[in-house]
Amino acid sequence: MEKHIGKLKIFYQDPKVVENYERKRKFKDDDVSLLHVSEIEGLKNIVNEAKGHILEIAVGTGRIARNLQSNASIYLGIDFSLPMLFEARKTTDTLTRKPFLVRADAFCLPAKRESFDAVICFRFFHHLEKCDRDALYNQIRDVLKKNGLLVFDLRQNSAHRKKALSERKKLLLSKLNEYFKELSDHGFKDMKFLGNRYGLDKFFPKFLKNRRLLVKAIRLLEMKYFNRFGFLQGLCRGGIIFCKKG
Ligand SMILES: C[S@@+](CC[C@H](N)C(=O)[O-])C[C@H]1O[C@@H](n2cnc3c(N)ncnc32)[C@H](O)[C@@H]1O
Repeated sequence: MEKHIGKLKIFYQDPKVVENYERKRKFKDDDVSLLHVSEIEGLKNIVNEAKGHILEIAVGTGRIARNLQSNASIYLGIDFSLPMLFEARKTTDTLTRKPFLVRADAFCLPAKRESFDAVICFRFFHHLEKCDRDALYNQIRDVLKKNGLLVFDLRQNSAHRKKALSERKKLLLSKLNEYFKELSDHGFKDMKFLGNRYGLDKFFPKFLKNRRLLVKAIRLLEMKYFNRFGFLQGLCRGGIIFCKKG
């Protein structure tokens, strides 16, 4: 466990990785990707009912925190990397209500028992081995209130994306079932999945500088017409898992 987790911590200390993190993935506010918008819109819908204290584990550069902190009375973002936290501070600096940003290890959360209404954790679970995930579920259970929400993402890795469509669908489904089983083994309930398709924005005309509106419109159409269909057809490449502490 230690070796893998250690590598992940070290990787995000590199100033170059931090500097390019949002630009490479098109999370910047003037150049958003469909996936980023999908995640934010989905998260807003899911977290809406948990308007209390939100903890974001591995907050990174604050791309979720800056879009979601207004849904919380207290928003705490923790990350192990100081350079990532400095970047998050910059990207949330203009907000009237800023999230609290604290350096901490996901496996040793600096929070009181049962103090959060929701825990969010994106682009982190898929890096973890089963034993690491078990440790993280226990940490999260500890800080969540009863019926509190846990929300994290399900992602295909690059090896999966190279496979044929039918194979990808099978792999995604089995990963989803694996997560659902782990969650239930750790005492979580009401597991749900909100799928998203992404990649369409590759085909947007390059001359469109601000693609936010176009991306949002497509996402709305997708939510309405393609979400379930996409998953059943194997076109859904990932999504958001959410559940409650039992
Ligand atoms: C891929 S980034 C995800 C950032 C953000 N959640 C997002 O969706 O853009 C992974 C983050 O996990 C953080 N991280 C890695 N190991 C950690 C640990 N043990 N505890 C807390 N954060 C950790 C890294 O510093 C990095 O910011």
